[in-house]
Amino acid sequence: MSVEDWTERESAIYRALSEVAVPERERQIAVMVDLVSTAPGDGDVLEICCGEGLLTAAIQQALPGITVHAYDGSASMLEATRDRAPAPGHLVTREIDIADRSWRRFDQPLRAVVSSLAVHHLDGPEKRVLFADIHGALAPGGVFALADVIQPATRTGQAIAAGMWDQEAKRRSAEIGGAADGFAAFRDAGWNHFHAEEPDPVDKPSRLTEHVDWLREAGFVDLDLHWMLAGQMLLSGWKAG
Ligand SMILES: C[S@@+](CC[C@H](N)C(=O)[O-])C[C@H]1O[C@@H](n2cnc3c(N)ncnc32)[C@H](O)[C@@H]1O
Repeated sequence: MSVEDWTERESAIYRALSEVAVPERERQIAVMVDLVSTAPGDGDVLEICCGEGLLTAAIQQALPGITVHAYDGSASMLEATRDRAPAPGHLVTREIDIADRSWRRFDQPLRAVVSSLAVHHLDGPEKRVLFADIHGALAPGGVFALADVIQPATRTGQAIAAGMWDQEAKRRSAEIGGAADGFAAFRDAGWNHFHAEEPDPVDKPSRLTEHVDWLREAGFVDLDLHWMLAGQMLLSGWKAG
C-alpha cells in the first residue's frame, strides 16, 4: 500500500466505524454474494481490498470449495480476513498496492471479481486501467461487482449525499448500539467526506457515469446499477460468455 495514503491508523479507525459508516452494508454484501453465485464455472474469486474480510467470508459461506483471493494493502486487515474466513484452506491473502498492476495476473481465469469501498483510492485513469485488467482476468461469463463511493455531479448532489449518509449512519448507530455514540464517532472522525469542500487526497471518487463509461470501454456488458444510497453505489458488469 502507498503508506503516505492509507495507513494502519486508517485501518483501525475504519474497523471501529464501519458498522455504522457503511450504508446498508448487509444488503450490499448479500447482492454481491448473489452476483458471484450466479456467475458460471468454478473458477476462483478475487476480492480487491478485502478490508476486515466480511465479504470474503460471506462468499466462502455461500460457495463452499471456491478459492477466494483476498488482497489488501493493510497487514492488519489481511489478518482480520484470515481470522474470519470460514474456509482458510481456500483463501489466498496477499498484500498489494491497488495501483500496482503486478498482482493482476492469475494462473486461471477468474469466475468473479468484487470490491467494496476501495477503488475510489485510484484516480480516473487508474480506474480505467484497473477495469480493463479485471476484464482481462475474468473467464467468459464472469462478473465484476463494484461497490464504492462516487463523486456527485453537482454541489447539490453532494449536499444530498452528505445528508443521506449522516441520516443512514444515525439509523445504523441507533439500531446497532441503541445509542448515538456510533454516530458521534462517525461524525467526529470526519468520515462523511461529502461535507468537505475538497476531498482528502486519499479519496479520488469518480462520477457514476464515468464508471459506466470506463466499464463499457473495458468490454463489460449488461451493466446494472443494483443499489445506490448516500453517494454510494453497487454496479455490476459481465464479460461476454
Ligand atoms: C474503506 S476500506 C474498505 C474495506 C472493505 N472492502 C469493506 O468494504 O469494508 C478501504 C480498504 O482499502 C485498503 N486500501 C487503501 N488504500 C490501499 C492501497 N493503496 N492499496 C491496497 N489497499 C488499500 C485499506 O487497507 C482498506 O482495507
